[in-house]
Amino acid sequence: MKSLLFLAGLATAAATSCRCFPGDACWPSVDTWNQFNRSIDGRLVATVPLGLPCHDPHYDEELCAQLREDWTLPEPHYESSSSIMAPFFANDSCDPFHAVEKPCTLGNYISYAVNISHPTHVSKALHFAQTHNIRLVIRNTGHDFNGKSTGAGALGLWTHNLKDIKIHHAYHDDDDAFYSGPAITMGAGVQGFKAYAAADDGVPGLVGGECPSVGIAGGYTQGGGHSALSSRYGLAADQALAWEVVDGQGRHIVATRGNEHADLYWALSGGGGGTYAVVLSLTAKLYPSTPVSGLNLTFSVSSANDDDDDDDDDGDDGVDREVFFEAIGLFQKVQPALVDAGAMAISTFTNSSFVLSPLTGPNIPVAELERLLEPFTTGLDDLGSVEVASVQYGGWMIPRSVVASNNDALTAAYRYIVEAGATVINVGLNVSRAVVGGDVENAVLPAWRETLIHTTLATPWVWNAPREMRESQRRMTEEFVPRLRQLAPESGAYLNEADFRQPGFQRAIYGGNYERLRAVKAVYDPADPFYGLTAVGSDEWVERADGRLCRVVAEGKDVLREL
Ligand SMILES: Cc1cc2nc3c(=O)[nH]c(=O)nc-3n(C[C@H](O)[C@H](O)[C@H](O)COP(=O)(O)OP(=O)(O)OC[C@H]3O[C@@H](n4cnc5c(N)ncnc54)[C@H](O)[C@@H]3O)c2cc1C
Ligand SMILES: *[C@@H]1O[C@H](CO)[C@@H](O)[C@H](O)[C@H]1NC(C)=O
Ligand SMILES: *[C@@H]1O[C@H](CO)[C@@H](O)[C@H](O)[C@H]1NC(C)=O
Ligand SMILES: *[C@@H]1O[C@H](CO)[C@@H](O)[C@H](O)[C@H]1NC(C)=O
Ligand SMILES: *[C@@H]1O[C@H](CO)[C@@H](O)[C@H](O)[C@H]1NC(C)=O
Ligand SMILES: *[C@@H]1O[C@H](CO)[C@@H](O)[C@H](O)[C@H]1NC(C)=O
Ligand SMILES: *[C@@H]1O[C@H](CO)[C@@H](O)[C@H](O)[C@H]1NC(C)=O
Repeated sequence: MKSLLFLAGLATAAATSCRCFPGDACWPSVDTWNQFNRSIDGRLVATVPLGLPCHDPHYDEELCAQLREDWTLPEPHYESSSSIMAPFFANDSCDPFHAVEKPCTLGNYISYAVNISHPTHVSKALHFAQTHNIRLVIRNTGHDFNGKSTGAGALGLWTHNLKDIKIHHAYHDDDDAFYSGPAITMGAGVQGFKAYAAADDGVPGLVGGECPSVGIAGGYTQGGGHSALSSRYGLAADQALAWEVVDGQGRHIVATRGNEHADLYWALSGGGGGTYAVVLSLTAKLYPSTPVSGLNLTFSVSSANDDDDDDDDDGDDGVDREVFFEAIGLFQKVQPALVDAGAMAISTFTNSSFVLSPLTGPNIPVAELERLLEPFTTGLDDLGSVEVASVQYGGWMIPRSVVASNNDALTAAYRYIVEAGATVINVGLNVSRAVVGGDVENAVLPAWRETLIHTTLATPWVWNAPREMRESQRRMTEEFVPRLRQLAPESGAYLNEADFRQPGFQRAIYGGNYERLRAVKAVYDPADPFYGLTAVGSDEWVERADGRLCRVVAEGKDVLREL
């Protein structure tokens, strides 16, 4: 959250450019909220923060202990109407890691959610929000790393309970102009595990997230969406056939590549969630299930070579420190062959441990995967599975040309970053035009097509250490991401896994699509109810320290200035 200096004497002008905030005179009365609730079939949910049982006067030892244990799992957050997984954006207002005596407050959580089950719930909520000048947030599972599915004083449009799934054995897109074949229509609340199960007895013939709890039609596909099947079929956004939405004007419409809302179809397919319209359902291509082979591999720096002076010998027969980084460099070199064969590789490493888990090969025999990986020997060590609410992220995409011509510099950059205490999570894939079939028309960042390694960087989250956490953010923005960016300045950052403070985010995250995306937003969301940090058009707003969302007033009348 940006800190802003509010210049004295211009408060009146500013008030009109800000969203109405709880406590303001403009904030609707209880009666008005009740009336709204009746108009949407009683589906208004007042936020009760997930961490409430951990604070007086609601403290419950048992519930709180359970919450503390489960906080790094996605489940409790995605079942909630308000909780989010990115700890920084939860702003310490109500969680199991602060003193029981600290009051639980709404803080940066939404004030209310509309539990959507029908398009009119959305159009009525839009109307209500506009009438009362209330901030809106579109919220599905709360996975977003950049806090885009939360917001202080906001009314949430909660799409999590739109769970319908329909399989089409022979779907015809716009009179077969672009696609005919199997497809799946998923309500916006359908998560990966549900869709995979419906699609093919648990074998995904569907491009969905590695983490099966991500909402497929939500921020995932709208932001691009990489998948274990991506080197075979492309990104999730490349599979989109039809988006059923309620747009910012309250219109219930369907956007396809060939209909009158083709511009909206284009923007929703890769141009970012929470920006143009509220998605009710997505129809996407479906593939026949194929045997999928998987392979894991780990190695580590031997404890004999550790710099730490403690005597711990964990019996790990690892490699020398120099060899460790050479091996990482070598792995970069084998990735082109792997991904061109259709495999997708997720590798995670720190300063001392490398884990390839998993390497997924749709329709590739295991023996072939092993052959492609031959330069490696295995040692066993486990870094553990992905946790939520435990790190801060940043990222940059590495084009194939960097590995081909500047691989040592890339390895050196990674080495610098991990030796500074961050973790590198690399997704090796090939989503080039050749893989996608050439025939896609969407707003996916063009740099994806040249990318060999999508790098995400993670620094550990520590509770109750705000200064250190801001310092991690500063290093992410000023040191870590720039080390990668300087090797590939023309590349970019993946919308869903970028540093939320990414300088020049418009270019870095949206590339040459930014202006066109802004123009589409103006058509479908002319009154701008949709806002999200780093989303298209977000540079026209500022979030003040207390969470109040204000429009940046045109030059000459500027009342807000960043500190
Ligand atoms: C554990 C974990 C694993 C992940 N794995 C992957 C992965 O394998 N591949 C990958 O590409 N990404 C991955 N991501 C990133 C993920 O794609 C994004 O966090 C994505 O934004 C999640 O979308 P959501 O709808 O589930 O989440 P939310 O946080 O609810 O929403 C995210 C964004 O989408 C908007 N949005 C949500 N629903 C709608 C809707 N119905 N209509 C319009 N806008 C909507 C929200 O306003 C917000 O801007 C992962 C994230 C986590 C935390
Ligand atoms: C909305 O109405 C329903 C049904 O009457 C009720 O259960 C719910 O608590 C109400 N929501 C709010 C925020 O008052
Ligand atoms: C976030 O926390 C800070 C420090 O407690 C507080 O001043 C600020 O108002 C909070 N922001 C929101 C949106 O709640
Ligand atoms: C939201 O609606 C679904 C049905 O659509 C219902 O099962 C669920 O209990 C509701 N959740 C809340 C918090 O009201
Ligand atoms: C990706 O794979 C396709 C098909 O195998 C191949 O033509 C292409 O050269 C590969 N790499 C890139 C960067 O396009
Ligand atoms: C590889 O790792 C994944 C998760 O990291 C795990 O689910 C899978 O069982 C592992 N496979 C093997 C063969 O060890
Ligand atoms: C790796 O980094 C951690 C923390 O930054 C440090 O404690 C540890 O000694 C380092 N290990 C190696 C092998 O460098």
